[in-house]
Amino acid sequence: MTERILILDFGSQFTQLIARAIREANVYCEIIPFQKAFEIDDSLKGIILSGSPFSVNEEHAPSVDIAAMVKKVPVLGICYGAQLTAKCFGGRVDKSNKREYGRAKLQLKKEDTLLNGITNDSQVWMSHSDSITLLPEGFEILATTESIPVAGFRKTGTDTCSLYGIQFHPEVYHSTQGKQLLFNFLTSICGCSQNWTPASFVNETVARLKQQIGDSHVIMALSGGVDSTVAATLISKAIGDRLHGIFVDNGVLRRNEFEQVLETYHSIGLNVKGIDARQRFYSELKGKTDPEEKRKTIGKLFIDVFQEEANQVSGVQFLGQGTIYPDVIESVSVHGPSQTIKSHHNVGGLPEKMHLSLVEPLRFLFKDEVRRVGLELGIPADMINRHPFPGPGLAIRILGEVTEEKVQLLQAADDIYITGLKDRDLYNSVWQAGTILLPVKSVGVMGDERTYEYTVALRAVTSVDGMTADWAHLPYEFLADISNEIINNVRGINRVVYDISSKPPATIEWE
Ligand code: XMP
Repeated sequence: MTERILILDFGSQFTQLIARAIREANVYCEIIPFQKAFEIDDSLKGIILSGSPFSVNEEHAPSVDIAAMVKKVPVLGICYGAQLTAKCFGGRVDKSNKREYGRAKLQLKKEDTLLNGITNDSQVWMSHSDSITLLPEGFEILATTESIPVAGFRKTGTDTCSLYGIQFHPEVYHSTQGKQLLFNFLTSICGCSQNWTPASFVNETVARLKQQIGDSHVIMALSGGVDSTVAATLISKAIGDRLHGIFVDNGVLRRNEFEQVLETYHSIGLNVKGIDARQRFYSELKGKTDPEEKRKTIGKLFIDVFQEEANQVSGVQFLGQGTIYPDVIESVSVHGPSQTIKSHHNVGGLPEKMHLSLVEPLRFLFKDEVRRVGLELGIPADMINRHPFPGPGLAIRILGEVTEEKVQLLQAADDIYITGLKDRDLYNSVWQAGTILLPVKSVGVMGDERTYEYTVALRAVTSVDGMTADWAHLPYEFLADISNEIINNVRGINRVVYDISSKPPATIEWE
């Protein structure tokens, strides 16, 4: 049974960071909304209560039964979680005279296992407007800061498991010894054995998939992206060629991508069929200029093509998908304890329509963990480190109507740009890069002739998750070389510009 830590989410923006810090220590954890019921069994080693935008003194402040939990497992409250702990056991929480945001220095008041290896004056990150002003009876202060009397506390006595609260956020980068504190909680206090590694994940997942799928067959749409490739490889390890991958050339992939990706799939032993549907896509896209209409057209046709292929495979009961954890975490809304579940599948609606059950082996992994599992599975690093690429592909990078000629023009420019990034070792320093074909022609001069041709914009961004992004500060010399190479080699393009907009307020894609 995999040991686990539960993080009860009260809606903090940092909750996912807690989970990632725990996973980094090779301990498995899950985030659930605070009001969701859960079982305390032998696999559960400890509970963490997250921060929250609420105040514990609000009328409908979210709450949980900490006393019941701590009878069975150790509990650590962070920020709101600490305030809630103090309040639930009879302490006081008040509005602070001044809000405390940003750096503070921790002053240690007592020795404790939780603080092993933490030095006095250690920098911690604060983000709160309420403070604990009185600790409940039977609790004691572990640390303070210049602004607040209770920065860390513990429950004394041995009638329950350990119970701690800390006002600061150990999970954020600016709490310089925060990971040490979480590590102490996980190992010395909860007794986690830190055996959750990519190798153990692969073994457990393959065994589970074998059980789940039995003798059935699985169909799966592959995109060439990291998530679907890693998910398919895991499924293939469990059931071999009973996994039927389908990779569609929709005509708006990168140059040679279809052939190259198909070759990689076959080299790692995946049973994947490539479908050349380019002309069907071009003909459906004809005359369409609205970005959403283009997206819907591609999405719908993709499902049709996929379904036609899937119908030819018999004995299929499952649809494989590369869904990852950030897509499925149930989030707590700041405007009330309601839940929203994000979901995005590129074959949305199909499972019900075809009476298929889902197989999602990466459902509980963060992106960086998917990459590590991919490397563990022996998938080539080139494949694992590929930039994200949108489902509608170059169709949303050709502003306006998509035609086969424009696709070829953009593929040629894009190939020069991406190859250049790889050759100069810049590819892995940006999160995503691509070229955009603008619907404007401008005047140029080549030799003695005037030209009137298209403009291409180069885009490269740095980002963690695509939600926010900054334009990448690529070297001028590199941009100059790429501009020359594109204009000299791609007939039809006589101007290259570089996009220096961040997200927000701009977006990564232009459509
Ligand atoms: P934006 O343009 O919203 O893009 O800043 C954020 C990330 O999402 C990708 N993207 C898409 N991916 N279908 C996809 O599968 C789409 O319609 C789509 N639109 C944007 C984009 O490439 C970036 O990584």
